[in-house]
This record gives sequence, structure tokens and C-alpha cells, in this order.
Amino acid sequence: METKIIDGKKIANEIKKELKEKVIKLKEKNIIPTLAVVLVGKDEASKVYVSNKKKACDYIGIRSLSYELPEDTTEEQLLDLMNELNEREDVHGILVQLPLPNGINEEKVIQAIDPKKDVDGFHPQSVGALSIGHKGFVSCTPSGIIELLKRSNITIEGKECVVVGRSNIVGKPMALLLLRENGTITVCHSRTKDLKEVTKRADILVAAIGKPKFITKEYIKEGAVIIDVGIHRQENKKLCGDVDFDDCIDKVSGITPVPGGVGPMTIAMLMNNCVESAESLA
Ligand code: GUN
Repeated sequence: METKIIDGKKIANEIKKELKEKVIKLKEKNIIPTLAVVLVGKDEASKVYVSNKKKACDYIGIRSLSYELPEDTTEEQLLDLMNELNEREDVHGILVQLPLPNGINEEKVIQAIDPKKDVDGFHPQSVGALSIGHKGFVSCTPSGIIELLKRSNITIEGKECVVVGRSNIVGKPMALLLLRENGTITVCHSRTKDLKEVTKRADILVAAIGKPKFITKEYIKEGAVIIDVGIHRQENKKLCGDVDFDDCIDKVSGITPVPGGVGPMTIAMLMNNCVESAESLA
């Protein structure tokens, strides 16, 4: 069977090029799309993520405002900053990199973001809007996966879709988005009995488990499309996903690599949300 590696990096680059054009048009109207990027503390992984997001902003022409705050920032200070950024008419998106240091209530901070600027799609209002099919920002990893499937000409309608993982950021919104596209959805998690029996039914399998190389060929159906959300640093320093890529590759009709699959799409969708926010607030 011919195997198709789904090139997330290439598709993300196409989206970023399209966004660049949109930003040029906005700038002709004197609107500069602006994203406030808030990083608290010194989590090394978060620093890398934030730096990649700012690089994407630079490429597209989105202005990024950097707020790098010390580990001992208080919840009150952060809430004050959210209020300030909500008020600013020149700020179109607010991104608070998670996790926040101990002692700061993440939910409270997320809820302080104006849903109109919630480009991460984490605010309860955004999540609620998604669940009833109203307009609102959608979490970037699952929306990136839908875009990846569409641009790879993979039909979702009528397909058996299995999502492994039920996080608020990936698993749950992923299930809702696949449902919106008329897939038949099953969500699995750590308490699922006979996981293999369920994942083997999937035409489209989304792995967001958080365990390196967990999904092997025994978990998949011949010809399935496999989307790997995981990213892990192995002992040999190489990155891998939740899927054992080498073990599965001969059995699938499509699979995302790690790196270069879902990750770049998450950033592309964040950029898309920023541009959309600037367009709608304009
Ligand atoms: N931490 C891990 N993933 C994300 C993300 O997509 N957005 C934010 N803000 N923080 C994260």
C-alpha cells in the first residue's frame, strides 16, 4: 500500500503565506494585527514554544508584544495585565503560555481574557460556543488537525474517528470538531477497557495520550489515517510522538510525522486566529 506522510510543516507554510497576504491588506487599512504574548517564569519548554510563536508572527507581519514576567509574579498582577490588554484597542489577541507557576490559578487568568481576544480558544465562552456550534475561537491544535485533514483531501464525513485523550485543550475540542464535520466519534481515555479493540475500528485515529510511541501497529486498522499529537524527547535526544511511526508506517494510508506534523499546524492556526481577530475588530 502506498503510504502518505502528511506534511504538516508544508501545509502550515502554505497557511502562513496566505496569512501574510491578508496582513498586507489589513496594513493597507492601517490595521497592524497584534498579539500579546505572556510568559511567566522560566519553564524551558514554554520559552521554546513562545519563541516559535513570535518567529511565526515576525514572518507573517503580525506585531508581537512580549511580556516576560518573573516566576514570583502574583495572580493579581497577571489579572491586572489581562485587564490592561483587554482595554487596549491596538491588541487583537492575548496568549498566556501555560503552564503558569504554582500559586497562580490558571482558570482565573484564562477567564480574565476578553473572549474576543482569546486566540488560544481556552476561555469557557469559546469552549461553550464550540459545543453548540456558535462562532468563537477554537483551540489551535484540534483546529489545525481539521485543516491538515481537509488540505490533505481526507474525508471526515461518515468516517469512524477515534480520539485517544480527553483534555480540554485537545481531546474534547477534537471530538467536537470531528463531529461538526460529520464523523462518527469515539473518545477513549485511561479508563477505557480494551483500548486496542476501539482504536482498531478507527478510519481516523487521533493520538493525544502523552506517552511516547504508545500506539503500535496492533492498535490500528489497515489503511487508517493516524494523527499524532504527542511530542517527547527520547534518551537519544531525538523527538518522537505518541505513535510508533516506524512500526505503523506500512499499515497506514496517512500518518503525521513528529516533528513536522501537528506542531507547525498549531502555530499556523494561532496566527490565523490573530489575523481573524484583527479583521473582526477592525
Ligand atoms: N501550553 C501548551 N500548549 C499550549 C498552547 O497551545 N497554548 C498555550 N497558551 N499554552 C500552552
